[in-house]
Amino acid sequence: MKIAVIGASGFVGENIVNVALSRGHEVIGIFRRNKIKDQNNLKLHKLTIFDEEIFENTIKDADVIISAYNPGYYHVAQAQRFVDGYDVMFKIAKKLNKHIIAVIGSTTLIQYDGELVKNGLVYPKPWIAALAGTDMVYDKYKNEHSIKISFISPAAEVFDGDLTKEFSYGKDHLLYDKLERSRISVQDLAYAIVLEAENPKYINSRFTIAYQK
Ligand SMILES: NC(=O)c1ccc[n+]([C@@H]2O[C@H](COP(=O)([O-])OP(=O)(O)OC[C@H]3O[C@@H](n4cnc5c(N)ncnc54)[C@H](OP(=O)(O)O)[C@@H]3O)[C@@H](O)[C@H]2O)c1
Repeated sequence: MKIAVIGASGFVGENIVNVALSRGHEVIGIFRRNKIKDQNNLKLHKLTIFDEEIFENTIKDADVIISAYNPGYYHVAQAQRFVDGYDVMFKIAKKLNKHIIAVIGSTTLIQYDGELVKNGLVYPKPWIAALAGTDMVYDKYKNEHSIKISFISPAAEVFDGDLTKEFSYGKDHLLYDKLERSRISVQDLAYAIVLEAENPKYINSRFTIAYQK
């Protein structure tokens, strides 16, 4: 497949690029400032998604779009910029009639006591603020069924670790392991996202992954 990855230079996005290439896909990698290394089957594009015409032309031949966009934790209006960015990406996905997978936060998942993660004790407050924009995106678009969107909310902790393929899937509830930690390696997260691109199971819904052992 031809997969467009927005945020190809980011923590999550670069791992998605690597997993997609390792599975034989062609990747259109979009980044804003920080170039990643050149690889076979990877076409890198330095652009901002807010240049809509250039962005649309760059992704128009993709079979599927994956967004690991993040305006930056230090953006002056970070939360609103998340929404503005997804407004552009979803508008263009709709126009081109493409499936888009959006990596959002875990803060709108439901924790074990029925409370949303963002209202509970899972995260320190600054982390909740950092994910507020993804919550706004999810609330705005979760019932938008005219666009083929798969949302993924990762485990609470995404760490720089290896591919195990030994994670579990859930929908709206935060998953925990036996030590009551909610964790996933960024490589397993990227792997699950590429599987959703290859064989979509969560269009117009949301899924989560975490280790349960
Ligand atoms: N546990 C959790 O819930 C959890 C954990 C981690 C991540 N996440 C979510 O995963 C997503 C990705 O996070 P991340 O940590 O991977 O972010 P990140 O490392 O900051 O990467 C963001 C990417 O977006 C690109 N970008 C920013 N503005 C752009 C623009 N205007 N046009 C084109 N590209 C642009 C950046 O490019 P440059 O770097 O080149 O500027 C970078 O490649 C976010 O939604 C985040 O909330 C959730």
